[in-house]
Amino acid sequence: MRLALTHLTKSFAHRVLDDITCDFGELRSLALIGPSGGGKSTLLRIIAGLETPDSGSVALDGEPVAFADEISLRAHRRRLGIVFQAFNLFPHLTALANITLPLEKVHGLAAAEAENIARETLHRFQLADHAHKKPAQLSGGQQQRVAIARAIAIKPRLLLFDEPTSALDPEMTAEVLEVIEELKDEGRDFLLVTHEMGFARHVADRVAFLAGGRIIEHAPAEELFAAPRSAECRAFLARILKY
Ligand SMILES: Nc1ncnc2c1ncn2[C@@H]1O[C@H](COP(=O)(O)OP(=O)(O)OP(=O)(O)O)[C@@H](O)[C@H]1O
Ligand SMILES: [Mg+2]
Repeated sequence: MRLALTHLTKSFAHRVLDDITCDFGELRSLALIGPSGGGKSTLLRIIAGLETPDSGSVALDGEPVAFADEISLRAHRRRLGIVFQAFNLFPHLTALANITLPLEKVHGLAAAEAENIARETLHRFQLADHAHKKPAQLSGGQQQRVAIARAIAIKPRLLLFDEPTSALDPEMTAEVLEVIEELKDEGRDFLLVTHEMGFARHVADRVAFLAGGRIIEHAPAEELFAAPRSAECRAFLARILKY
């Protein structure tokens, strides 16, 4: 993917994204790191077309996201697979139906075709035995893998993960990180907001440090973690990697 942000600004009660201009160029995987409240989720939601910036633009593969045009915005959203921290599965539907529903309702697939894809994807993530279970009958790690299966099933051009493991214990975290690593190995593009610094370093081509509504620095993962250039990023990493 190619991702470029130009004069991107967003305020709620205060300025959350502060005139971000950043051309990341061509990349496969980008990790966004930074302190809580820095604007990571807001930026991800804007890139996903779920939130509208006050000003500025986002271009994905050279195409600007048309925030003012609901029809093309919907088309943009349909081409992304999004996984949030809190799984966001429909609680009243089985794992299988959580995957088939968007395939049928949003992507217009016939029921049988949607079920085939959903079963294949569940099988792929070792979830075939859980197809008939509702989210409450699944562990957190299993729920998150269903959410990832759902995101993949639509064959997205890009996957967006917002702290996909922060609600999980270490073993389930490992389970989910393994799945993300597999997706990377098979060449899928993704953008990942994470507090798992070791994972970001391992899996991302490039890492951007976002704080106070600005991208303070971005660099190849190895470079940023080995030698952060800004005092803010150095302080953040020192604090977060201390324990
Ligand atoms: N819908 C909203 N309405 C009002 N304020 C919001 C909204 N979404 C985000 N904010 C505010 O914007 C700021 C940035 O929030 P954001 O969720 O983007 O941060 P973050 O970097 O993802 O933090 P965390 O690491 O804790 O998830 C916060 O001060 C938050 O309170
Ligand atoms: Mg967040």
